[in-house]
This record gives sequence, C-alpha cells and structure tokens, in this order.
Amino acid sequence: MVSFLVLYGTGEGQTGTVAARIADTLDERGHDVMTIDIDELPAEFDVGEFDAVLVGASIHAGKHQPSILEFVRSNRAALNAVPTAFFQVSLSSATEEGRAQAAGYFEEFAAKTEWHPDRVGFFGGALRYSEYGFLKRLLMKQIAKRAVSDMPEADASGDVEFTDWDEVEAFAADVAAFVEGRLGVTPPVTGGQTEPE
Ligand SMILES: Cc1cc2nc3c(=O)[nH]c(=O)nc-3n(C[C@H](O)[C@H](O)[C@H](O)COP(=O)(O)O)c2cc1C
Repeated sequence: MVSFLVLYGTGEGQTGTVAARIADTLDERGHDVMTIDIDELPAEFDVGEFDAVLVGASIHAGKHQPSILEFVRSNRAALNAVPTAFFQVSLSSATEEGRAQAAGYFEEFAAKTEWHPDRVGFFGGALRYSEYGFLKRLLMKQIAKRAVSDMPEADASGDVEFTDWDEVEAFAADVAAFVEGRLGVTPPVTGGQTEPE
C-alpha cells in the first residue's frame, strides 16, 4: 500500500471534484489517500510523510493558484525526492486547439517552480455560470464561444462541464501503476479482489 497525498487549488470547485475522482481511483486500488484543498492545509504540514504526491491546480487568467505555486516552490526538494504528478484543469484543455496553450501554462509553472513531476495530466474544466457575477458570466460566455466550437450541453442551472472523467480515471490509474512500479509495491486490491502479498 502506498500513502498518497492529493493536494489541490481551486477557484470554483472543479479541481476539487477532479481531485476527489483521482483519490477514489487510488483508493479503489487499495492505497491510502489524503485529499486536501490548499486553503485548508494545516500550518504544520509535512509533505515528507507521504510516499507519493499529486498536486492539482486550475487556470484563471492564464495562471495557477498562487498558493499552489508557493507550496511547490517551498516544498520542491521534498517533492523531487518522491514520485509525483501534477494535474491541471482549464478551459484550454477542453479543445484540441487549446492544447498548446494548456501545455504552455504548465511549462511556465515548471520553469517558475523548478519542480519536475513524473506525470502530468491536462483536463478540461467547467464553466459554473450560475456561480459567477454578471460581468464574469458575460466575459466567460464570450471567451467560451470563441474557444469552443462544439459546446457540450448545459445542465439545468446553465453550467457547462468539459471534464472527461474517463481520462481522469485513466490518469490516476497510470500514476498509481507508475508509483507502484517505482516503489516496488504490489497493488493490494485489483478489481475488488485481494491479491496475496
Ligand atoms: C475568471 C476565469 C478566468 C479563466 N481563465 C482561464 C484561462 O486563462 N485559460 C483557461 O484555459 N481557462 C480559464 N478559465 C477556465 C477555468 O480554468 C475552468 O473554469 C476551470 O474549471 C476552473 O477550475 P476550478 O473550479 O477548480 O477553479 C477561467 C475561468 C474563469 C472563471
């Protein structure tokens, strides 16, 4: 069993939902997972207590949450000492055309933090129009109209979700397999069956 930390930053909650799905996938594989919103991180927090770490952040106006950037910078040595992964949630990752932009956000982040995660996942986010104020709603509707030609159907509240949950689960499974291999750990549970140690 591997102890995983899944730490994330979010503006409107989508990265938290992605983090929860990743945590569920790791948990179903029999691992021990702690999921934390960076805004709720205890003051005395030791990232070194975990065997492997996943960090997630979303993009607002071209940037990740500053608290995530700061966390990664100040814990870079500890992060570079264990298997790690980063996941990014944005509108850019909702389309093929936005791919390069999404990759660019991460490249800038990697250059600023000097952290080199072993795996990186890019996921489309969500536009929670129902939670935005008037101006933000107007602005995001215009941006989305320009950026996304094949708009998914809105839910009852008018919100639009772009996240591909199969991709999120596949990413989590890939990270788990990588970490198990790196640490020489047999997954304790596969497909609901307990495997002999
Ligand atoms: C004010 C605002 C600015 C945004 N700016 C960008 C951006 O520059 N690039 C991008 O790809 N997505 C952008 N997005 C889309 C968000 O990344 C997307 O809504 C994501 O799901 C947010 O995740 P969160 O709820 O975890 O914060 C923006 C969203 C909002 C509301």
